[in-house]
Amino acid sequence: MPRPITAFIDPLALRHNLSVLRQRAPHAKLCAVVKANAYGHGIERLFDALRAADALALLDLSEAERVRAAGWRGPIWLLEGVFEPRDLETCSRLGLWHTVHCDEQIDALSRHKTQEPHRVFLKMNSGMNRLGFDPRRHRSAWARLQALPQVDEISHMTHFSDADGERGIAEQLRVFNEATRDLAGERSLANSAALLRHPETHGDWVRPGIALYGSSPDHPQHDSGHWGLRPVMSLRARLIAVQSLQAGDAVGYGSTFVAPNAMRIGIVACGYADGYPRHAGTGTPVLVDGQRSRTLGRVSMDMLAVDLGPCPQAGVGSEVTLWGRASQGPVLGVDEVAAAAGTLGYELLCALSPRVPVQVL
Ligand SMILES: Cc1ncc(COP(=O)(O)O)c(C=O)c1O
Repeated sequence: MPRPITAFIDPLALRHNLSVLRQRAPHAKLCAVVKANAYGHGIERLFDALRAADALALLDLSEAERVRAAGWRGPIWLLEGVFEPRDLETCSRLGLWHTVHCDEQIDALSRHKTQEPHRVFLKMNSGMNRLGFDPRRHRSAWARLQALPQVDEISHMTHFSDADGERGIAEQLRVFNEATRDLAGERSLANSAALLRHPETHGDWVRPGIALYGSSPDHPQHDSGHWGLRPVMSLRARLIAVQSLQAGDAVGYGSTFVAPNAMRIGIVACGYADGYPRHAGTGTPVLVDGQRSRTLGRVSMDMLAVDLGPCPQAGVGSEVTLWGRASQGPVLGVDEVAAAAGTLGYELLCALSPRVPVQVL
């Protein structure tokens, strides 16, 4: 028997989320961000559902190869562009769109020999200070690209630092609009948070990632239910033991949880080596047989403990949902679990361990 833990991947949920996002941005084309192996879900597992997108965006050439091998003939966009000049050969061979965010990438393009000119997205650093040209240099970079025979279409892009928060997008949007005002080319600005919260950013192409996978981009302000999103990944395990504690008994490494009174606890076949966050302290929500309960004490490599107080019927073999949908129906948002561990749903989804068996629903 394999250890009783499985990650369930629900392509129908992705299909649903994609259509929710389309309805929110009805005038834009939708580029599904599938970097990091579709945020940990597995690109190939979701491939059929992803066909509903207008383009796929990723970072790694090896993932671009995989997407083409799976049969995707639509656009593939390298969000960080090329890392070295010879990557441009792969762009030509696979017909990849690529971001251009620095002079070195333009230099490489100018030396590249290709039969087919490329489509590029010129990236502006409108305030995040990660990738992109200074707004005052965007126009001259555009003019350089415009003069290259290797380039046949130039679009404009930027990325927001605070689309999910209080600071918002207004200043970055103003800078971007001003610097690109009279330049030809399509525009792309919106990640999931901007798509859902700031319709004025939609432009020609939206680039949602996390919302496609059913996690709320602005948790805890709004949960995924608020946005009508469904979890694509559900991590479920089973109880492999039950302990009856007396008042004063401690649980797990470091004895960080001490029972205030007699209680039943369950031991779950899931630990940090499965991708469950070790920093999730006592009180992190779980579903036991679909009923809400909490973790107790420290998460160890292969196990964690849960309170069986709210679910006295539970015993060895009972299902424990660590995040996502329980087989009984109720949902525990990955964002809630992430918050309890001081991180984001993004990190938990991407960190699912390769040792966890995956089942596509
Ligand atoms: C340039 C760019 N666009 C879009 C996205 C998608 O962002 P999100 O997953 O927040 O929707 C990312 C992700 O980091 C990104 O780097």
